[in-house]
Amino acid sequence: MSKIQQLPNHLINQIAAGEVVERPASVVKELVENSLDAGATSIDIDIESGGLKLIRIVDNGTGIEKQDLSLALSRHATSKIHHLEDLEAINSLGFRGEALPSIASVSRLSIISKTAEEEHGWKIEARNAADPEPVSSPQNGTTITVRDLFYNVPARKKFLRTERTEFNHIESLFKTLALSNPKVAMRLVHNRKTVYQLPANASETEYQHRLKRLCGQEFASSLIAIDAEVEGLGLQGWVAMPTFSRSQADMQYFFVNQRIIKDKVVSHAIRQAYQDVLFHGRHPAFVLYLSIDPRQVDVNVHPQKHEVRFRNSRQVHDFLYRSLHHALADIQPEQQVNSPAFALNTAHAGVDTTHTLQQESINFETTATPRYYRGESAPSFKVGEPLGAYSQLLNGPTTDAAASKDELHPLGFAIAQLKGIYILAENEAGLVLVDMHAAHERIVYERLKQHTFNEGIISQPLLVPLTLNVSQSEAELVENQAHELSRYGLKLERLSHEQIRVREIPALLKNADIEKLVRDVLSDWLEYGQSQRVEESSNEILSTMACHGSVRANRSLSIEEMNALLRDIEQTERSGQCNHGRPTWKQLSLEQLDNLFLRGQ
Ligand SMILES: Nc1ncnc2c1ncn2[C@@H]1O[C@H](COP(=O)(O)OP(=O)(O)O)[C@@H](O)[C@H]1O
Ligand SMILES: [Mg+2]
Repeated sequence: MSKIQQLPNHLINQIAAGEVVERPASVVKELVENSLDAGATSIDIDIESGGLKLIRIVDNGTGIEKQDLSLALSRHATSKIHHLEDLEAINSLGFRGEALPSIASVSRLSIISKTAEEEHGWKIEARNAADPEPVSSPQNGTTITVRDLFYNVPARKKFLRTERTEFNHIESLFKTLALSNPKVAMRLVHNRKTVYQLPANASETEYQHRLKRLCGQEFASSLIAIDAEVEGLGLQGWVAMPTFSRSQADMQYFFVNQRIIKDKVVSHAIRQAYQDVLFHGRHPAFVLYLSIDPRQVDVNVHPQKHEVRFRNSRQVHDFLYRSLHHALADIQPEQQVNSPAFALNTAHAGVDTTHTLQQESINFETTATPRYYRGESAPSFKVGEPLGAYSQLLNGPTTDAAASKDELHPLGFAIAQLKGIYILAENEAGLVLVDMHAAHERIVYERLKQHTFNEGIISQPLLVPLTLNVSQSEAELVENQAHELSRYGLKLERLSHEQIRVREIPALLKNADIEKLVRDVLSDWLEYGQSQRVEESSNEILSTMACHGSVRANRSLSIEEMNALLRDIEQTERSGQCNHGRPTWKQLSLEQLDNLFLRGQ
């Protein structure tokens, strides 16, 4: 007998199920995506025992015609694509035609469906799919019932976790699906208990309500709206202010044409945009929707379809980075005044409160004048600029917080200083508390960056040029982008097929690991079409300098100096957080004060 045999259909489906159906949540994903593809406006998800016993999805979509029912259960049968060209511009969530047969091969699956044209519905069991039976069905649409998942593949079943854990997976998937399609009403029931019941959202306000329900009050009230468009690309949605961050990357929703995806280019661009406003090791939170011509993105790269490939990933990277970076730099204090992330008494997700101010050196006049600036001359702005300079800036009223001034000065006016650490100020909403070290640090840092940016990055020749073996494409990059790279202070030249020489490096980074820096820059450049390594590394150094150059605790400031600092905070980009992502100020509203003293209760 021949050693090679054609596998039976059933086994082929079970092998495919290995890829597509990892756990109960993957079944829910495939089925709900089918409902969405069928244009459903209402989807009910009924789960029992973490999905092991029962998964039932009821939708009001177009339904499946009687003669298509058994086809729907056969492999490589789909209504969503017909030609190769369709594959190149996919508009639906599904297209591979393998979900239903795969699921059916590892469970007991049945379908009831009714189209608008028919009087009653039809039902089939996957076991004897050839024979649909008529059933009465009150509404148009499809109900798919999956019982006893993996009953016939015990090996697979062993890999499942507890019912609770499996349900948690379903619940987080549900959130994703509910965010991807705000206009669809969705319900999730577990063991006969309704966990979520979300009405269809027609308006923006209703959608925000859903967001609050799914991501929590605190997230929902520290949002920055994103709405950007360039040729062929649109980005809508929300990012959380940097002061609301997470210890895990769990509140990150990125949709490409309503499909949730995880993508290296995307996460890199977002990380870059948050670079420098986020506390070390924290993760930003966002819900973002990218719209892009389907021909510009390949969704056929992963069986579960949660990875994509952009045809022009550089353009996408650039667009995301710019849009978000811009929005984050633009946060105004007045936006923050009412945000819980800035309000006192709010459990603060982002901050390690054990941080103590460095109090050892109280010498404000120390000028850590950076020597790497062009011409070696001291920059017009000194890092350790004494706060006395603030007094020249402002001699206006101090405690007179008139309404008109409040519009101009959302942080209000200083009343007093506390323990040499905090500034107390009065504004329209109530009391503002400022951590003066943190605030000043951010201001100094932003100015340093500005200065470095305006003056350009100064390079410095290496005494002994460094020769590196690189890949051919990296060597080509060096050859073709030499000019571009020199803007970052890197003078590189191609020596041979796979060899380059490093001649000059940014003066600021002279103590860095040059080989690593150059390699990282080149690999970033190849992958994302640019690199922020130099900027990142020099920002780190500037940030340290800013920290040392800024006003220390225990320094007493005059009211004028304090007011000048408040005005600076208002005018400085990203001033809501210090360089380490800690908040620089907090609002304590009159209402919160009243609560403290039980006034009016
Ligand atoms: N809920 C549903 N409503 C309407 N049609 C459905 C539904 N679920 C599945 N179908 C039909 O069954 C076919 C096969 O589904 P599936 O195996 O998930 O493959 P795919 O979604 O990749 O086409 C779909 O192309 C669609 O025509
Ligand atoms: Mg499908």
